[in-house]
Amino acid sequence: MNRWRAIWRTTPMRLTLRLVALFVLVSLATFAAAWWQSNKTLLDATETVLEQEIAELSASQQPDGIARAVRAVAATADPDHLILRYDGPNGPVGNYLGPLPPGDLRQAVLEDGGNDIDGTYILRSAEVAGGLLTVGQDADALEELREVFVRVLLFAMLPTALIVLTGGMLIARRAASRSATIEATLARLTAGDWAARLPPFDGPPDDLSRVGAGIDRLAAAQEASVAALRQVSADIAHDLKTPIQRLSVLLDQARTLSPDLAPLDRAGAEIEGIVATFEALLRIAQIEGGGSRARFAPVALGPLAQTMADLYDPAAEESGHRLTLVLRDPATIRGDRTLLGQVIANLLENALRHTPPGPVTVTVEGATLTIADRGPGIPDSERQSVRRRLYRLDRSRSTPGHGLGLSLVDAIVKLHGGTLELSDHDPGLRATVRFDGARL
Ligand SMILES: Nc1ncnc2c1ncn2[C@@H]1O[C@H](COP(=O)(O)OP(=O)(O)O)[C@@H](O)[C@H]1O
Ligand SMILES: [Mg+2]
Repeated sequence: MNRWRAIWRTTPMRLTLRLVALFVLVSLATFAAAWWQSNKTLLDATETVLEQEIAELSASQQPDGIARAVRAVAATADPDHLILRYDGPNGPVGNYLGPLPPGDLRQAVLEDGGNDIDGTYILRSAEVAGGLLTVGQDADALEELREVFVRVLLFAMLPTALIVLTGGMLIARRAASRSATIEATLARLTAGDWAARLPPFDGPPDDLSRVGAGIDRLAAAQEASVAALRQVSADIAHDLKTPIQRLSVLLDQARTLSPDLAPLDRAGAEIEGIVATFEALLRIAQIEGGGSRARFAPVALGPLAQTMADLYDPAAEESGHRLTLVLRDPATIRGDRTLLGQVIANLLENALRHTPPGPVTVTVEGATLTIADRGPGIPDSERQSVRRRLYRLDRSRSTPGHGLGLSLVDAIVKLHGGTLELSDHDPGLRATVRFDGARL
């Protein structure tokens, strides 16, 4: 049902509707013109007949003669078809003596109980010999003409309009399913899946296939540049890691030589931070490379969440947070247990680090994992940015961390084909991770 409703909102369907409307309009106009023309021809022909009748009846040019002629013809005429009447100096004669609408040539509905006259007539009147001679013919032919036109209209226009409409709907359905695949691919690309491509279209190339090919080319170019960028940052991280580690060892040696030099301690701590950042950056790059998919195995989310909650319980207690675990029919998914544990660890760490003492809830419902706190939350405008590497909110500058926790979570979730959603817990932050695609 929804599918058909969606079809109404497609370009081919709109074009079909416009075409059908145009067809109906043009047909109606053509029929109207044809009807008007036929009606006029019929009326002209009737007028000629009536005028001839008048000429014959008034041949004597005498009121008495005309009255006689009218009486004679009226005696044998069928008033259903022919009306005769002469309003002469000696009063009206004829087969219809009821009221007459004025005019030369006109259509009128006549009724006369005595003569059983009841119908539409075409009347022609003429002044002759000091009286008014009126001859009328029934308008059945006109009515029949109208009926024929209505029938032709119904049997020709309606089926054509219906056929065009049905054809349009079928074409629109086909086009709609094609634009749906384009939309689905665009949605995957927007979500950062640069490997997404349109399924091949086996038909003659058209505007949609050209748009599709354009999207594929754009995605390929973007995929290549994202890969190149990742490679560059991984290379930088990799190349700098060793000299920094060497520097760290040298600093340690310097500290053992002169243990009282406070700046050396601070330099040591800084170097540790730098090493940790590089390691995290490299890990993210590694995960984004997708290599760890080879190690995927069934992971039960319930026990994993239980282990992580147990692990973080002492830390939560120390920071004044109340950690609660809720398991509702937890699913088993295909994935990397260590990396999935890291997702829970990073989200839990954030909930403990970036919020004042309060409740923190870990929920596993099916293949959905939710971690919610009652802290200050993340403003809507920054919920996308915090997934970026090294991005931290201004207020978190003084809390420990490198702004890589959520980037790592995002990379791991994407590796598993899942989604990460940050939303308002009113107050607080709710991180929802869905692994429906990885469910076993
Ligand atoms: N539960 C939370 N409540 C409030 N702010 C948060 C929460 N989790 C993350 N943030 C904000 O998002 C930023 C990025 O988080 P993350 O990538 O884990 O880096 P880090 O924790 O190392 O700062 C944090 O610096 C913090 O400002
Ligand atoms: Mg963090």
